[in-house]
Amino acid sequence: LYIEGDNLEVLKLLQKSYNNKIKMIYIDPPYNTGKDFIYSDNYKDNLENYLELSDQVVKGERESIGIKLSTNTETMGRYHSNWINMMYPRLKLAKNLLDNDGFIAISIDDNELVNLKKICDEIFGEKNFIATIVRRTRKGGGSMSKYLSSDHDYVLLFSKNISKINKFYIPYDKKYVERYCEKDSNGKYYWDTFARNRQGSSNSYTITAPDGTELTDAWIYKKDKFLKLLNDGEVRFKKLKNKWSVQVKQRINANGQIMRSIINDFTNEQGTKSVNGFLGKEVFSYAKPVELVKYFMKSINEKDSIILDFFSGSSTTAQSIIEFNNDEKTNHKFLLIQIPEMINIKSKAYKAGYRNICEIGKERIRRAGDKIIEESDNKDLDIGFKVFKLDSSNLEKWDPDYNNLEQTLLTNKENINQIEQN
Ligand SMILES: C[S@@+](CC[C@H](N)C(=O)[O-])C[C@H]1O[C@@H](n2cnc3c(N)ncnc32)[C@H](O)[C@@H]1O
Repeated sequence: LYIEGDNLEVLKLLQKSYNNKIKMIYIDPPYNTGKDFIYSDNYKDNLENYLELSDQVVKGERESIGIKLSTNTETMGRYHSNWINMMYPRLKLAKNLLDNDGFIAISIDDNELVNLKKICDEIFGEKNFIATIVRRTRKGGGSMSKYLSSDHDYVLLFSKNISKINKFYIPYDKKYVERYCEKDSNGKYYWDTFARNRQGSSNSYTITAPDGTELTDAWIYKKDKFLKLLNDGEVRFKKLKNKWSVQVKQRINANGQIMRSIINDFTNEQGTKSVNGFLGKEVFSYAKPVELVKYFMKSINEKDSIILDFFSGSSTTAQSIIEFNNDEKTNHKFLLIQIPEMINIKSKAYKAGYRNICEIGKERIRRAGDKIIEESDNKDLDIGFKVFKLDSSNLEKWDPDYNNLEQTLLTNKENINQIEQN
């Protein structure tokens, strides 16, 4: 599903039908860099505000083409408050949609990391925090930097209920698996050195080699675990250059590799390349890499979950899901929300015929889907999607009671209309 509209209104509408149904939310909200366009909610009547804004017309164009958002600059006095006020109710609503074993991954940078962590601590609960992942955003360069080259951003991970979350595993990459070249009745393994003296291990004790030589060192595991492994045939002594080496079988984990909190591989350049490949250069310049969304999808156990992105931009998340389904034989579904943000008349995107970001997002899904079908053996792969548009019919006015925000956020009725079937 692709829904055009302000995500606050749309999230309100999804509350009943998608309550507890979403396994993973990935969002990449505006980072609040001082140049970002931020949608200004009018909490008394957000929908009227939305429709009024979406009625804006560019000179010479008659039909409504999109919403003009205003820049949230540092000089505005309410710089951080504006951003926090924008994010808070949206995350509050998003949490209700998460399944009990679901999680949310939020891309962010230093501008709002601290505030975002605080908002999430409050909404999801501190105990449901999983990790702050650091992602390398670019490699090389840096000469344009003011003080130093900032080459990373973050992905904040929160669960709905930490006790229902499994460890985050990702499949081993091929190169890594090649190390596990030996096999016994318990599976694949390789011989790893038992000494950990250079890695600051505090497990220091003496091990006696088969010829009685005493080997005192810092070891990978404590002594009782060593004795058990030795007894189980998991440890061997090998003479290397006349010195004893103690070695242990490192076994491949059937679940895959544990996810790490530093991501080195998915830079912004990859995101830009992918979107350029489908839509042309500079049509959308801040897309995230497809592999980043896939990275988090790898830890979903089910094969047919629903994944939500309510700041979907150029639809990176949709492309990730379609590709993932093709590669992994899964059947995950996407639910994307995007405001029809107007496109600057001077931009390449405008010249290419796009009038708002939804048009870009939908076109990318169509082209990415077609390409996959072209290349895939599975010609039945489902690449279709429906488009809905936020509408004003039978919507109740929202008059929030700030002491009971959750209740007042939940009072709206269904009112999105289907406009396209792709
Ligand atoms: C940083 S971009 C996301 C880029 C996306 N991850 C990609 O790879 O293409 C943030 C997007 O959120 C959209 N957005 C901002 N405020 C919104 C709102 N209130 N409702 C829905 N979308 C919104 C913006 O139009 C922008 O396209």
